[in-house]
Amino acid sequence: MAVCSSSSSSGSSSTTKAWIIHGILTGAAVAVALGAHAYLLLRRSGKFRSRVVGIIPARFASSRFQGKPLVQILGKPMIQRTWERAKLATTLDHVVVATDDDKIADCCRGFGADVIMTSESCRNGTERCNEALQKLEKQYDIVVNIQGDEPLIEPEIIDGVVKALQAAPDAVFSTAVTSLKPEDGFDPNRVKCIVDNRGYAIYFSRGLIPFNKSGEVNQQFPYLLHLGIQSYDTKFLRIYPDLPPTPLQLEEDLEQLKVLENGYKMKVIKVDHEAHGVDTPEDVDKIESFMRERNLS
Ligand SMILES: *[C@@H]1O[C@H](CO)[C@@H](O)[C@H](O)[C@H]1NC(C)=O
Ligand SMILES: *[C@@H]1O[C@H](CO)[C@@H](O)[C@H](O)[C@H]1NC(C)=O
Repeated sequence: MAVCSSSSSSGSSSTTKAWIIHGILTGAAVAVALGAHAYLLLRRSGKFRSRVVGIIPARFASSRFQGKPLVQILGKPMIQRTWERAKLATTLDHVVVATDDDKIADCCRGFGADVIMTSESCRNGTERCNEALQKLEKQYDIVVNIQGDEPLIEPEIIDGVVKALQAAPDAVFSTAVTSLKPEDGFDPNRVKCIVDNRGYAIYFSRGLIPFNKSGEVNQQFPYLLHLGIQSYDTKFLRIYPDLPPTPLQLEEDLEQLKVLENGYKMKVIKVDHEAHGVDTPEDVDKIESFMRERNLS
């Protein structure tokens, strides 16, 4: 049964409920729930959430860009570039491509990637990651969702989000932000993020946050731009796609708000990264000239 639906074999409803309660506990309460001793041991030995898989979800059909993962960027398929970067991350035990498409699967196997076939009914990358996770033979504690359309993703960013989730037992999700360019302040396709002083997400918006009373972008303020990479605790990933949509999520059209609206904690790391996402065929020319300028091959 290759459906992307939730109630997967491995997550019984009672574990699900326990996990939801978990999500609203504080770090200290998590320690009690785990047994303080076990928790400290886990923290000390650095073994907490130690088994990590990187999943690159890739679909062929795309409204804006058909066959996008296979587009050639300076002579190499985009998906191969993303995979090669992911393989350099030191925190990943395993990297797989999850796809519903035979052409993508053949291409990936051709350059040496492990591939998991997922069903066409997956509605988004998160669901595809969840289905792939169920189909993997080994057990993992963390899944990193590595978007296939960021071929220049730095391995250090992948490692950064993993380490952030390992170091924050009260969070179920981690992601990355970088500095927002002032000219992108009012671009609704650039998602802004605000964090508390311990680096947990407060909110994400397509609007400018925080908002200066002048009504303009404050050139002095360090606004944060959200990057697509995210990692999840695997117990959380099993229930995430099925949490019902929430009002702020629907209004902003931002999936990650569902996490915050349900009271879960999300750890955010700040990185230096110039985003070169490939969303349209025109973006291919842009990224190729960027790479030529910097002698990247
Ligand atoms: C708003 O932005 C201006 C610069 O554009 C800055 O001087 C001011 O401190 C900011 N904050 C407030 C509360 O006005
Ligand atoms: C994925 O798509 C489904 C269906 O549109 C939606 O319910 C879910 O919130 C989406 N995102 C995530 C992160 O599960």
